[in-house]
Amino acid sequence: MSRFIINGGNRVYGETRIQGSKNSVLPILAATVLVKGETVISNCPDISDVNATIKVLRYLGCKVTFENHTVTVDSTDMDKYDIPDDLMREMRSSVIFLGGIIGRMGKARLSTPGGCEIGLRPIDLHLDAIQRFGVNIKEEFAKIEFESVKPLEGTNISLSFPSVGATENIILTACLAKGTTIITNAAREPEITDLADFLNRCGARISGSGEGTIVIEGVENLHSVHHKVIPDRIAASTYMAAAAMTQGKIRLNSVIPAHIAPVIPVFEEAGCDISIEADSVTLTAPPRLKSIKTIRTMPYPGFPTDMQAPVMAMTTVCRGTSVIIETIFESRYKHVSELLRFGAKIRVDGRMSVIEGVDKLTGASVISSDLRGGAALVLAGIAAQGITTVDDIKFIERGYESMENVLGSLGCDIKKEEREITDEYGDDQGAKSSSA
Ligand code: UD1
Repeated sequence: MSRFIINGGNRVYGETRIQGSKNSVLPILAATVLVKGETVISNCPDISDVNATIKVLRYLGCKVTFENHTVTVDSTDMDKYDIPDDLMREMRSSVIFLGGIIGRMGKARLSTPGGCEIGLRPIDLHLDAIQRFGVNIKEEFAKIEFESVKPLEGTNISLSFPSVGATENIILTACLAKGTTIITNAAREPEITDLADFLNRCGARISGSGEGTIVIEGVENLHSVHHKVIPDRIAASTYMAAAAMTQGKIRLNSVIPAHIAPVIPVFEEAGCDISIEADSVTLTAPPRLKSIKTIRTMPYPGFPTDMQAPVMAMTTVCRGTSVIIETIFESRYKHVSELLRFGAKIRVDGRMSVIEGVDKLTGASVISSDLRGGAALVLAGIAAQGITTVDDIKFIERGYESMENVLGSLGCDIKKEEREITDEYGDDQGAKSSSA
C-alpha cells in the first residue's frame, strides 16, 4: 500500500503542464473497439485507470501499446464481448465499454458494477437507453447479458438526468446503428465533445455535442485516426486550489481555459486573482482566502462534483464560513472525517456541508478513500503545518499522474513511499518509486 509523506507549509509556486483528461481518455479508449484497425491516442495520462482500461482492451483481444503518453490500439482481432468481474471491479468506469462492445459485436456481458466509494452509482439510465436500440437485456446473478437479434436501430432517447456515462454509452451504441439517434437532456461535459470529436474524425456523424441535444446518424464503419486527448480540467483546478490555499501562485500550461470557467468564480470569490491566456491560466492567491458563500455541484457547465472535495479542503482555511451542497452523488463526503483530523471545522447535514475556516491546519495521518477526496487530503497536507501521511493513495493514482512530482516541482515537500504488488495479469499495480 503506497502513501504520501508531506512536510507541509510550503507555498505552491511555479508553472506546470496539465496532464490529459482522465474522463476523456477512458471513453475514447473504449470507443476504439468500434474501429477495425489501428487507432493512436496521444496525451493519455499515465494513471491507473488508463492501465485498467488497457487491460480490458487486451482481454477483449485488442493489441495495445502504451508509450510516451500515447496508446495505440489495434482492435482488428477483437473476439470477446464480456468483461470479467475482476476487471469490472478494478474500474467501475468499465461500464463505458458497453456501447462499444455492443456496437461492434452485437452482444455484451458485464457483471453489475455495484456501488463504489462515492455512492451507489446505478446504471439504470444506460440500460434503459441500450434497450431502445433493440437490445435484449437479461440480468441474472449479478451478471447482465445484452444481445441484439437484429442490427441495432437508431432511436430517440430523453435522459431523465444528463448522465455523463449514459450519454457516452448512447453515442457509442448509436455510431454504427442504422438510422438516426437523438439524445435529449444529454450531458454537456467537455469530455463528451472530445469523444464526439474523436468519433467524427473516425468517420462517425455526431452533431450537437456540448449541447443538450445530440444527433448521431449511424454509419457503416469507422476508420483509423490519430487523436489527442484534451487537458484534464479537474487536475488543473485541483492544482489551482493547492496554490490558493498556500498563498501561492501557479501558471497552468496546456489547458483549455473555457473548460475551467465553472470553477473560476469560486477562486475569485475567495480573493484569488486569475489571468487567462490562450492556453494557460495563472492564479495568484491573496495572503488570506475569503470564504465562499455557497457552492452547489451541478452538471457542466455548473460547478463540477469532482472539485467538491478539493475546494472543500481550500475552504477549511478561508476566513469565515463556506457552504457546499453536493447535488450529484449521494455520499461524496468521505473525506470530511479525515479533514477533521487536520483541525478543520466541518459539519455535514445530508447533502450540505458547512465549513468554518480555521487559521491553520496541523499535519495529520489520514487515509484516502476515493480519488478526489484523496486529492483533498493531499491539499490539506501541503497547507498544514508539520508532517502529514496520506495512506492508500491508489485511489489518487487512478486519476492524477505523479501528483508527488507535480507538487514537488512547485515547491512542496512531498514524497511517495510504496511497496510493489503484482496482480494476476502480470501488471505492476503501482508507479515506480519516486519522490519530490
Ligand atoms: C462521470 C465522471 C465522474 C464525474 C461524474 C459527474 C467519468 C469516467 N467519470 O461519472 O468523474 O464525477 O461523471 O460529473 O467520466 N446515475 C443514475 N443512473 C445511471 C447513471 C447515473 O442514477 O444510469 C446518477 C449517478 O448515481 C450520479 C449521477 O447520476 O448520482 C451522475 O452520474 P453520471 O453523470 O453518470 O456520472 P459517471 O458517468 O458515472
